Amino acid sequence: MAIIELKEVNKVFRTDEVETQALENVNISIAKGEFVSIMGPSGCGKSTLLNIIGLLDTPTSGTVTINGTMAANMKDSAMAAFRNAKLGFVFQSFHLINSLNVLDNVELPLLYRHGLSGSERTARAKEVLERVGLSHRMYHRPSQLSGGQCQRVAIARALAGNPEIILADEPTGNLDSRMGAEVMQLLGELNSQDGRTIVMVTHNDDQAALTDRIIRLYDGRQVM
Ligand SMILES: Nc1ncnc2c1ncn2[C@@H]1O[C@H](COP(=O)(O)OP(=O)(O)O)[C@@H](O)[C@H]1O
Ligand SMILES: [Mg+2]
Repeated sequence: MAIIELKEVNKVFRTDEVETQALENVNISIAKGEFVSIMGPSGCGKSTLLNIIGLLDTPTSGTVTINGTMAANMKDSAMAAFRNAKLGFVFQSFHLINSLNVLDNVELPLLYRHGLSGSERTARAKEVLERVGLSHRMYHRPSQLSGGQCQRVAIARALAGNPEIILADEPTGNLDSRMGAEVMQLLGELNSQDGRTIVMVTHNDDQAALTDRIIRLYDGRQVM
């Protein structure tokens, strides 16, 4: 069964003057455990697609089904709970909080989890920092780390909630090729060793070639 299914998805952004069809009739089915990349030129709808897959945005028409449940049938509270429990997000620009150390950054999303004590949160954050190879940096501030390390912290933060699905929007876009390769290696392991489903937007052909499948967009449409 597909873990994520989009059927006939359209997304139109309307402002006073312009109407942009960001996605046109997109049909996608992603199986549990797949590592999929989304490619295409700037402005073709990649981030819009990832946001719809991640329930951060809704389609203008069409359906999104995650784990067998149609998103449109979920209450906002159920949707938020689902997003919190099942999805982990990684962005190009890390979105770390500089006034907090690495450990606190990773613990932060766990504050919204019910039933976790402070010591359980810390233990969980330490565990995922170990997983991304950054235990030795947990009391540093993000500004004291390299870009690649910052992205690994952001990945640890996404992992803290133990998500089934990781959604990454150009996760190596701000990194040099060596650091980008490190982050790709980590994502690859999270997929192949830990069995997490990953959907990643990338501009990098070599990185996309490492994934199971490439979805290509052009002007909001899927192309072969
Ligand atoms: N919130 C928004 N309001 C209006 N237009 C938007 C909005 N978000 C994206 N767009 C437009 O939709 C198209 C697709 O954008 P996006 O999904 O960000 O592309 P990509 O990630 O492939 O660069 C672009 O033309 C963009 O300008
Ligand atoms: Mg984008």
